[in-house]
Amino acid sequence: MIIAVDGPAAAGKGTVARALARHFGYHFLDTGSLYRMVAFALLRARQDASDVAAATAAARGLNPQGFRDEDLRTEEVAAAASVVAAIPSVRAALLDLQRAFVRKGPGAVLDGRDIGTVVCPEAEVKLFITASPEVRARRRQLELGSDSYDAVLAEIRARDERDRNRAAAPLVHAADAVVIDTSEMNIDEAVAAAIAAVGR
Ligand code: DC
Repeated sequence: MIIAVDGPAAAGKGTVARALARHFGYHFLDTGSLYRMVAFALLRARQDASDVAAATAAARGLNPQGFRDEDLRTEEVAAAASVVAAIPSVRAALLDLQRAFVRKGPGAVLDGRDIGTVVCPEAEVKLFITASPEVRARRRQLELGSDSYDAVLAEIRARDERDRNRAAAPLVHAADAVVIDTSEMNIDEAVAAAIAAVGR
């Protein structure tokens, strides 16, 4: 059983996907963290996120165990992740890691941008979790603490733009995905809507 959970930044897909995995007893993979790891490895080595050769080498040699979560969750890493995510050879390298993961039984929940369209088009359930840019910026601002709302909103819009308009595996919802807009929902409501969608 594979559950694909896609959507833009800060729409709540990570929270929903984790809750689904717990609810059904499945494995969970946050695929955005793989792109963040590649980005962090480049920043740490003082290499440019748009350096195709360096980014590809970092993705091919990636050891997902070698990173601390707090290093990956910064806006600097998020911005660089959306740059490396536009590089086709980086995506190809990370695809192998993701495909190996979905073979784990009894089931897997993956969250990302292209799970239902590219990584697991065969997924039994596809969810597309979204929310307005303003609501997502407000949530991200709360999560980050002190940053200004306007700066966070601008960063969310820039990231949406890059994720939606890149040539390689752009953020779009699969034709057979159930769309859940969490703009007016709290976490419990969003999780309940997702569990209901899986059970349909
Ligand atoms: O979900 P996130 O914010 O951790 O994702 C970081 C970046 O990685 C985001 O800009 C889009 C990219 N990404 C992707 O292109 N494909 C995925 N399956 C997951 C994330």
